[in-house]
Order: sequence, then C-alpha cells, then structure tokens
Amino acid sequence: MNWSEKQILSYAQATHRYNIWCGSVSAGKTFSCNHKFIERLKNGPKGDVMVIGVSRPTIQRNVLNDLYQILGFPPPTTKTNEAKLYGHNVYFVGAPDESAMRVIQGSTLALAYVDEAACIPYPFWRMLESRLRVPGAQLLATCNPEGPAHWLKKEFIDRAGDLDLISFNFTLDDNPSLDPAYKESIKKSYSGMWYKRYILGEWAAAHGLVYDSFDHLNLYDTPFPAAPTYVVGMDYGTTNATAGVLLAINPRQWPQIRVEEEFYYDSVKVGRSKTDAELADDVKDWLKYKQLAAIYIDPAAASFKLALRHLDLPVVDAVNDVLLGVKHTSKFMQQKNLVIHKSCSTLIEQIQSYSWDQKAADKGEDKPSKVNDHLCDALRYGIASAFPQGEISSLDDNITIEQIKRQMYADHAPLSPFMGGGTGGYF
Ligand SMILES: Nc1ncnc2c1ncn2[C@@H]1O[C@H](COP(=O)(O)OP(=O)(O)OP(=O)(O)O)[C@@H](O)[C@H]1O
Ligand SMILES: [Mg+2]
Repeated sequence: MNWSEKQILSYAQATHRYNIWCGSVSAGKTFSCNHKFIERLKNGPKGDVMVIGVSRPTIQRNVLNDLYQILGFPPPTTKTNEAKLYGHNVYFVGAPDESAMRVIQGSTLALAYVDEAACIPYPFWRMLESRLRVPGAQLLATCNPEGPAHWLKKEFIDRAGDLDLISFNFTLDDNPSLDPAYKESIKKSYSGMWYKRYILGEWAAAHGLVYDSFDHLNLYDTPFPAAPTYVVGMDYGTTNATAGVLLAINPRQWPQIRVEEEFYYDSVKVGRSKTDAELADDVKDWLKYKQLAAIYIDPAAASFKLALRHLDLPVVDAVNDVLLGVKHTSKFMQQKNLVIHKSCSTLIEQIQSYSWDQKAADKGEDKPSKVNDHLCDALRYGIASAFPQGEISSLDDNITIEQIKRQMYADHAPLSPFMGGGTGGYF
C-alpha cells in the first residue's frame, strides 16, 4: 500500500525533540508514527526507550499489534512490560494517573513514544520531558484533539516556535487505506463537538448541549417485543435525586438500545428524604419481576448498594468515567441506536438541557454541568457499563451472575440465600 503525502511528509519532518501526530480517528497517524519509531530505534541515539499509553492494554491494542506486524514478528503478551528492539531496552508504561510518575522517575531515555498523548496526565508528561536526557533524545506522540485550552495544545502545539516541536494535523483523507464507504460510516458516527474533533481533527471547545443530536428520532412509543437483555443504570443521592433508567438491549434488532422506563425520586421536590431501605423497596417495585442482567450503580453509593443487594437485586459498580460514558451515549444517540420511550419525560427534559460546563472548558477540561443531571448520569452509567468499548456488538460479557457474585465477595457484602447458589429470581 502507498503512503499518503501527509504520511511521507511527517515521516521526513519528524526530526525535532517533540513530534506530534494529531487529528481525526483512523487517519493514519499511528501508522506513520510506528514507521518513524522503528527508524529511530535503528538510527537514533543509544539508550533506553519507553512506549507510553493510558494503560498497558491500550498500548497493546493501539500500538504494539500494528508495530510488531511491521517488524514481522508476534507482539509480546500484555503481561510483558519490557522488550529488546534493535539493541534498546524498550519499556511499556501505562500512565492512567499521576502515580505512574514513580515508574519513570530516575530513568534516562533516548526515545519515547506516547499514544493518546492528550489523555496522559500533565505531570507525567512534564516528568517524561525531563527524562529525555540522552543527547539527541526524541519524543514521538499521537493524539486525537481535545478542547482548545488543553495543556497539550496551549503549552506545546501552539508554542512550536519556542520549543523544538513539530505537529502534523491528520484527517481521514490522509489515510490511503480507508474504503470510501467506511469513511462515510465513521463520519456518520459523530456529531457536534465530537465531529469537529474526531472527523475534522480540530481542537474544538466543549460548549452547548452535550447530546446535540438528540431529536424526535430518539423517541418511541410503539410497543417492541421483549429484549434478550435488560440492565439498569442508577444514580444515587441522599440530598439529591435518586435516578434510574431501564435499558432493553437487543444487539440484533435496531434500535438496539431502548430506555423503556425511568425511576426518579427527588427528595427536595417531594420534601422528604427516604431511607436506603425505602428507596430500595421502591426500585424493586419499579422493576417488578423483570429479568435483569445487572443494575449498574454509582460506585460511591455504598449503603444503597447494600440495601439493593439485601433484596437480591444484581448490583454491579458502574463504569464511572464521565467522558467515556458521555462519548458512547452520544454516539449511540447520533446513530439512533438509542431510543427513549416518550413516557420518560424527566429523562427527556434533562437530556435537552444537559450542557457542557463553560468554565471547565475554558480551563481545558471537558465536563458536563452538574445541574439536573441525575437521569443523564444514570443513562451514562448504564451505557458505559454495558458497552465499555462503545460498540453495540460488544455488549459487556461480564454481565453475568459470576461477575456479580465476585463483586459481592469483594465488597464483603452479606451474601443472600439466593447468592448462595440458587437460580431464578432476577437473573
Ligand atoms: N499507508 C497505509 N497503508 C496501509 N495501511 C494504512 C496506511 N495508513 C494507515 N493504514 C491503516 O489504517 C488503519 C488506521 O490507521 P491508524 O491506526 O494509523 O490511524 P490513527 O490515525 O492512529 O487512528 P486513531 O486516532 O483511531 O488511533 C490501520 O489499520 C493502519 O494500519
Ligand atoms: Mg492511533
């Protein structure tokens, strides 16, 4: 396969201390960066090398699989954190948070490769800069754009003149291997801010509505046949509202995700707080005898989790990464894979006012405003937990009784007679 002009150019011009491939998804950034990385391993200064990503598994998925394909031998297993390439010790370092700084403290590097650079903690990046102390050391990085005030944009890409830095902006057209039909389908997956960032490759600000593609096509009131899987997403509040959404999921029938019902108890509005046991009873009444795979709940809701488990409800900690949840939900909303029953009026109202926090955006942070968002939280908990990859086809295969049991043991929750080994009930 031929290379695109942008790929050839970036390969030739990546001679600086900092070299950043940035832009839309599937644009051929990693492809170019991988080839440059190999060239630097062969011809760059001697010394230790690091490949950095948000976690060890993402390094494998995003970098090593393709890299080793180019090298022509199988990638190391995900348990391996070190390899030898062209005489260099190459270390694989996941940096999900600042604690990863300890791993690189004290090292001296000749070359670093950072995947998803905009998602790496800023202090880690600063520490990494100081580790590149072999003469002629270089940093190669790839990323998708975030907000215009993000530190990587403001302090590095925009200051290319002051730093020894070059950045390359890629779009889908810079990947010559993409089939036009596939390109069209990726374009249709995103709307609003996500479209600007992931398709146009722009550092676009998070402002306005979070779910800006939500419209009448996301609503339904016709009856559907029962779905093979039901899950609940649930947010909990003592002084705030407790909110839940019942999701009917059928990966084989479009629209694959239906919000059939909502649960909402706002103690402030009603003027009375309920105990956890009372709320748990209400949730059980709400669910009646539906066959639930899981109730994904706000992980912080320790006492409420116990109350629900006491009623033999299959409670699991929800994936609580706000941006990931919002991103997946937004994608399903845009593609109309996600529809909401018209009777869920409070959820619909909250979706229509769910907005990005302007002040946070000005500081380079993507964050929805925390105003009347409890059902939106419940919805993202359900979506991010049931579809952790953001793909309809990859429904979380952990939503089994085994996982729920494991989590109950881990939490030292009292085991119910049902959990002792029965079948039936809610499963
Ligand atoms: N010139 C090329 N020849 C053959 N295949 C290519 C070429 N450029 C890119 N590809 C392939 O296209 C796919 C997407 O490219 P790549 O992974 O580099 O995109 P990316 O910009 O890093 O995307 P993301 O932002 O999603 O990480 C990969 O399978 C890659 O191997
Ligand atoms: Mg990539």
